[in-house]
Amino acid sequence: MIVFDKEHTVFTLHTQNTTYQMKSDQYHVLLHTYYGPRVSGGDLSYLIQYADRGSSPNPNEAGHRRDYSLDTLPQEYSTCGVGDFRLPSIEFEPEDGSRLADLRYTGYELRKGKYSLEGLPTFWGGDEWETLVIQMEDASTQMLVELYYGVLERYDLITRAVRVTNRGAAPVRLRRCASVCLDVQRGDFDLITFDGCHTLERNLNRSPLRPGVQSVESVRGTSSHHHNPFLILCDHSADEDHGLCYGTALLYSGNFLAAVERTQLEHNRLLMGINPYHFCFVVNPGDSFTAPEAALVCSPCGFGQMSRQFHRAIRENLIHDPLQGRRRPVLINNWEATEFTFNADKLVDIAQSAAPLGLELFVMDDGWFGVRDSDKSGLGDWMVNQEKLPGGLEALVPRIKALGMSFGIWIEPEMISEDSQLYRAHPDWALGAPGRPHTRGRSQLTLDFSRREVREHIYKDIRKVLDSADISYVKWDMNRSLTDVWSAALPADRQGEVFHRYILGVYELLDRMRQDYPHILIEGCTGGGGRFDAGMLYYTPQIWCSDNTDAVDRLRIQYGTSFCYPVSTMGAHVSAVPNGQTGRSTPIATRGVVAMSGTFGYEMDLSETTQEEKAIIKEQVAFFKEHYDLIQLGDYYRLSNPFQDSYTAWEQVSPDRREALVSLVAGPARAATPFRILRLKGLDPHLTYQVNGQGSYPGDVLMEAGWPLPIPQGDYQATQFYISAI
Ligand code: GLA
Repeated sequence: MIVFDKEHTVFTLHTQNTTYQMKSDQYHVLLHTYYGPRVSGGDLSYLIQYADRGSSPNPNEAGHRRDYSLDTLPQEYSTCGVGDFRLPSIEFEPEDGSRLADLRYTGYELRKGKYSLEGLPTFWGGDEWETLVIQMEDASTQMLVELYYGVLERYDLITRAVRVTNRGAAPVRLRRCASVCLDVQRGDFDLITFDGCHTLERNLNRSPLRPGVQSVESVRGTSSHHHNPFLILCDHSADEDHGLCYGTALLYSGNFLAAVERTQLEHNRLLMGINPYHFCFVVNPGDSFTAPEAALVCSPCGFGQMSRQFHRAIRENLIHDPLQGRRRPVLINNWEATEFTFNADKLVDIAQSAAPLGLELFVMDDGWFGVRDSDKSGLGDWMVNQEKLPGGLEALVPRIKALGMSFGIWIEPEMISEDSQLYRAHPDWALGAPGRPHTRGRSQLTLDFSRREVREHIYKDIRKVLDSADISYVKWDMNRSLTDVWSAALPADRQGEVFHRYILGVYELLDRMRQDYPHILIEGCTGGGGRFDAGMLYYTPQIWCSDNTDAVDRLRIQYGTSFCYPVSTMGAHVSAVPNGQTGRSTPIATRGVVAMSGTFGYEMDLSETTQEEKAIIKEQVAFFKEHYDLIQLGDYYRLSNPFQDSYTAWEQVSPDRREALVSLVAGPARAATPFRILRLKGLDPHLTYQVNGQGSYPGDVLMEAGWPLPIPQGDYQATQFYISAI
């Protein structure tokens, strides 16, 4: 619910459990007054204190009033160079070369439903949403800044976005434009970020805020394996079930900056948006620039509640489900089994062994096109390699379908190999600056996706492939960071737009593919989880979580990922042991338990698997299918922290709380294992449950007294308990 108090120019946004408020004051400065647990309302600007803080300047209209400074007042969207020395949200550079921005409130608009942003991903939905648009202006440049707010009450979700329009007569360079600025009049918070690298993505890092700016960012052209565009600010004491926390996710897949500043007043400012690094967008008179959407969930009772609200909103109001509620298929992918070395018969062999085990989708990974026997050639030539696959997909796909499986295919549209027909014909289509040699990444170059003709050409070829057979799944991969970012299609003064235009190009093509092939399930992938962000999820309902399929490493990766993103978005496969990334061997049962808390699949040569393993796999697949709704759509509870505890446990609970599945993986074996008791969560205290079909245990007993953990015999043993109400 959005309430506007006209007399005091106060805007209050209520969700089920939270309240957010801002106010335009006597100088038309938009002050942020409150964001936190739901309160009844009123004008909360009484919370703001005014006092002279020596070196904090005063705006012109405040005269000689020294207790009024943009540097000390909580700003809804911070300005630049006119008295606020904290993190700026926006910066204009008109033709005179000044780099200032001074914003004053000029008006608002309130409407039912959710706004959308052209060319950018957003949360969507019908009249359960409300939209508020706040208009502000920089009088000198006549730049109009519109702050967008979307409110989805039931999931405590508040989205924000910004549109900047040039209403003046001369071009203005936009040097920065954050999506969200959040000034909270408190500084005693912890900051949690999700960091790592290729094969070890989204490891949780938590530390108390200290004075100054703490930030994570990407300058790689992708949101990156290294830092996720999602962070949490929380009470020092916050845990899964207690404490105030604010989660902020950016719906953007390119360079981002997420920064928190603890200020001189021991308050904090959070800023998130496109990274100002190599960013400079020319906004001509009459034109607009739109900054991507950010999504906020505040939970007054810990991380678990925050995550579940994000999960529900992402599942129901962000992804587009091509299967329209039908179940996602359990898949078999040939990459780890064959890499580039396969032919049609080998693929059919693998599929033949997979079908009787209950696997439903066969995914042909890299290596099927152009001349592609290693990662040094072929990218850009999206024609079936007739030596490997004689007769093309027209011949292969019916053989797979005859086994009762559907067929999926791997592509990497944004890339080009120097050794390819495409590069020989269009060397200037690769990103690269004049007179400089190319920097390679995985032996390949990046196509300039900011250029329409490049995208058109690639899409035309890919369409031919998609139209040549019955294809129901596409894995859209992207395997290098952007370097040499310069576009032959833009003049010198617009090169600061290339990073952003590249991502807009990716979004445009993904959107077209989504619309042209509404039945195709697209899985995102960027060398594993290098672009695992809420922006991509709008186009690709699932994303390959990591190139690391080691079950033990995956516990941490999936744990970190789960803070924002639901199980149904995390690509997770069982692969062979010893694991290719770590050399570790884990039991097949453990690999199955870990992978089935994701979009489940296998990535191994099932034609070489023992009968004994096949029997286990068949059981795993059957178990997963039996409990599909609970696992994929249930409420997710983290029961331990794999960075601290000797075991990892998590639980899915059905929305009606009549069913739950607890999964647990112990650590390395040790003698004299302590006896441990696990307390369950999310059950109905008044219902009585069976555990694995046995006994009768009241919900409050299972939650308060708990359940004894089995004593593992061997390393990394997994167990699952199925809990059902009697
Ligand atoms: C990336 C992906 C893998 C696989 C290979 C193929 O690394 O993350 O899953 O598709 O590319 O080259």
